[in-house]
Amino acid sequence: MSSHHDHATHDHHHGGVVHEPSADARVAYRKAYEAAQPDPGRRVVAVDLEARAIDWTFTPGAPVRAWGYNGQIPGPTLEGRVGDVLEVRFTNRLEQPTTIHWHGLRVPAAMDGTEMVQWPVAPGETFTYRFRLPDAGTFWYHPHSNETVQLEMGLYGALIVRGADEPQLDAERILVLDDVRLDKKGQIATLGGLIERHDGREGDVRLVNGKSEPELTIAAGQIERWRVINASSARYIRLSIGGTPFRILGTDGGLIEAPVTVTEALLATADRLDLAVGPFSEGQKLAVEALPYFRKTIRKRQTERFATVKVGPAKPSTAVIPARLRTIVPLTPASTPPTRTVKLGFKPSLRRVFDFVINRERHHRDKPVKAGELQVWDIVNTTLMDHPFHLHGFFFQVLTVNGEPPPWRSWEDVVNVPPRATVRIAWLPDDRTGSWMYHCHILEHHAAGMMAHFDVVP
Ligand code: C2O
Ligand code: CU
Ligand code: CU
Repeated sequence: MSSHHDHATHDHHHGGVVHEPSADARVAYRKAYEAAQPDPGRRVVAVDLEARAIDWTFTPGAPVRAWGYNGQIPGPTLEGRVGDVLEVRFTNRLEQPTTIHWHGLRVPAAMDGTEMVQWPVAPGETFTYRFRLPDAGTFWYHPHSNETVQLEMGLYGALIVRGADEPQLDAERILVLDDVRLDKKGQIATLGGLIERHDGREGDVRLVNGKSEPELTIAAGQIERWRVINASSARYIRLSIGGTPFRILGTDGGLIEAPVTVTEALLATADRLDLAVGPFSEGQKLAVEALPYFRKTIRKRQTERFATVKVGPAKPSTAVIPARLRTIVPLTPASTPPTRTVKLGFKPSLRRVFDFVINRERHHRDKPVKAGELQVWDIVNTTLMDHPFHLHGFFFQVLTVNGEPPPWRSWEDVVNVPPRATVRIAWLPDDRTGSWMYHCHILEHHAAGMMAHFDVVP
């Protein structure tokens, strides 16, 4: 990771089209941001987090050497309300440097936890992250150093931010999904081989909240809010709950405009979904599973179970799911021409056999963007496999996928880009100037070079 630090200067003047976001969109965006300014009456949520080696027992009687935050996997769920300040005093008790990235949060650049904006926290050292929580939603935190190893070893946790008028369901459950691959000794396998470098790490042990295929109990007649996070390195999860219908309430950037009823939903890596699940009747048993999704890897997967839901005795329900959840003002019409093209590529390499690249370059240095200047980016996948595109620090709207508008409007920070597809996104850089990045969230692809960094400039 040194090649991308050595460009000291770059051209701030990029030619090409400049569009104005609609005035409404600009006002709505600004309002949401300002409403989140911490006022003196707001809380500071202060937490101590420590990364250290632990014994992880996801199958009873078989401890595995792993790394966790505060001795647990997932790390503690961090929770706040919109406008709260989160203050995390982080101590690194690992034997290697690390950082924490607040995936999906609109933090200041300096708090983003990448090696672009901070020195990694050395073993034994402490670093305090401090920022306000501007948006309600389901987020997560994970290291942004040596991610292929550090996330696989167990360093990740959920971060939940609650808004003023959330739908009121009967209960809430957070499901952090992951998978690990064990070696012959039953320990987490070290990364290796060309197949894993190409496909990314997928494991055969599937975990929900750090437990292998757990049994969840839900009361008959009740409707729960499930906040689902895909924390795995490379696995796409085409989620099914026993084939029964469930409702999508939100995605990466919080609630969508109206609930959408489906029987399955795709979570690319790092994706989140908020769901309304139920009601069921007593005695029902449902498999929470990933249906086969072929993302054009070398290895293929079958339907695989993550958990089992058992429906227990009935309890009364007071759940209210409004028909309208939120208004999302479009940033710009779907037909707006792009201001920039980002090409996700695959390139043979003499030294490493192959590289994953952006605009033909490993660890691409992209042109700066100006605060307040609407960005319309075409993310073009020139490869034959899927890539989950992730932008740090800002939500985007998906305008089109291969020219077709998505079925509903949402704010996202991850979008899957299918093979040979073009996904057009729009986003608005605000005054959080500094260094940011975007990358493929298949950790092995990111590590192999499918990432770029760029500045937001005043
Ligand atoms: Cu979860 Cu660079 O991101
Ligand atoms: Cu890098
Ligand atoms: Cu990728």
